Amino acid sequence: MDDFGRSNADLDSALAETREAYVARNPKSFARFLEATAVMPGGNTRSVLFYAPFPVALARGEGAALWDLDGARYIDFLGEYTAGIYGHSHPVIRRAVEAALDGGINLGGHNLLEARFARAVTERFGLERVRFTNSGTEANLMAVATAAAVTGRRKVMAFRGGYHGGVFTFSGNGSPVNAPYDFVLARYNDTEGAIAAIEEEASALAAVIIEPMLGGGGCIPAEPAFLAAIVAAARKAGAISIFDEVMTSRLAPAGLSGKYGLRPDLVTLGKYVGGGMSFGAFGGRAELLDRFDPRRPDAFPHAGTFNNNVLTMSAGLAGITEVYTKDAAEALNARGEALRARLNALCRRQSAPMQFTGIGSMMTVHFTAAPIRAPEDWAETDPRLKELFFFDLLAAGIWMARRGMINLSLVTGDAECERLFSAVEEFLQSRAALLGEAAARAARMSI
Ligand SMILES: Cc1ncc(COP(=O)(O)O)c(C=O)c1O
Repeated sequence: MDDFGRSNADLDSALAETREAYVARNPKSFARFLEATAVMPGGNTRSVLFYAPFPVALARGEGAALWDLDGARYIDFLGEYTAGIYGHSHPVIRRAVEAALDGGINLGGHNLLEARFARAVTERFGLERVRFTNSGTEANLMAVATAAAVTGRRKVMAFRGGYHGGVFTFSGNGSPVNAPYDFVLARYNDTEGAIAAIEEEASALAAVIIEPMLGGGGCIPAEPAFLAAIVAAARKAGAISIFDEVMTSRLAPAGLSGKYGLRPDLVTLGKYVGGGMSFGAFGGRAELLDRFDPRRPDAFPHAGTFNNNVLTMSAGLAGITEVYTKDAAEALNARGEALRARLNALCRRQSAPMQFTGIGSMMTVHFTAAPIRAPEDWAETDPRLKELFFFDLLAAGIWMARRGMINLSLVTGDAECERLFSAVEEFLQSRAALLGEAAARAARMSI
């Protein structure tokens, strides 16, 4: 067998062994999974949470800790895909939810919290007006629908590797259940290509939607000049620019648009902004949002039974005004920035084909040392290394995303970050041979 074949086989057998140990550790999760498959397709109601051979079932969480059904304890470095910034059952969030329950839920009218929360959100993120939804997906559906209705056009530009919800998925080959818009896809961080596509489609383009840092696409930051050029080109074409800050609004006190001093027409929000309850929002220029003013005879409708539900309004308001304040955002992202720098220095010291991309409190591991500016840059990396990393870190008590995403939260302090660092160090040591072979393989392929 040649070099290539042997290293491939080594990696396969390491992975098989790791999976076997995982199965042996998690009999109760496996039983729960089998039971669930009888009533839910694949035992699942949220695609991202599934991984083979079966996912662990989580029994409970407290602070930064999670326990699975078989009794293992993890440090939560997923933070509910960025929605769980407050940790599990933060006392301020708990009090806010209890206060809402005390006042009665499902009131069926305007309540006393929604405008206060709207004021806090608009002031924090520099929006002239805002409307609430129940999820980030819905926020993006409403933002794109607004753009289409206002412009009378149907084409929507998005970026390969972008994710704007279950019906706006642009990784791999897209998705058969995407919303039925006429999508034009461009390469992330490719200013020239994106501008040319906007100009080419100018008369038909309703919107350009972009994450200021790809989240699900691998924590790849956009270059600020690229974002600025997109906003300007969209404006010139008469299209609406939409920044999807569902994940990234946590990365700076006023989100990444605030950090870069950019003013897209619309911004969408979600995740932690609702205090850990179901939440989404779209906001921005008054001229666009005011089309929903119900006092207008030609008002656009925007329904949603739970749009102003008091649990979200109360938890969200307490969260961004009392806990995740602007100062807290600065501090958390500084902690993340320092951790990521240390992890990357470690990878470089070991000459591992591995790096952590991201900004502040969000990062994703990639198994290449080459620069990553777009998802295409890591598309060819060996997916088995990511799987091995995931299962090794799980065994070391680190809860993270199967796709390699790691997010800090307010409860993952220095001690928890140290545990993550040690787990990565241990991975680099115990898997040094496999990583060395992968690096050699990558070098041969690029010759
Ligand atoms: C950038 C981005 N936009 C939109 C969404 C969809 O939000 P939700 O899951 O609340 O529908 C997500 C979810 O991960 C996201 O990461």
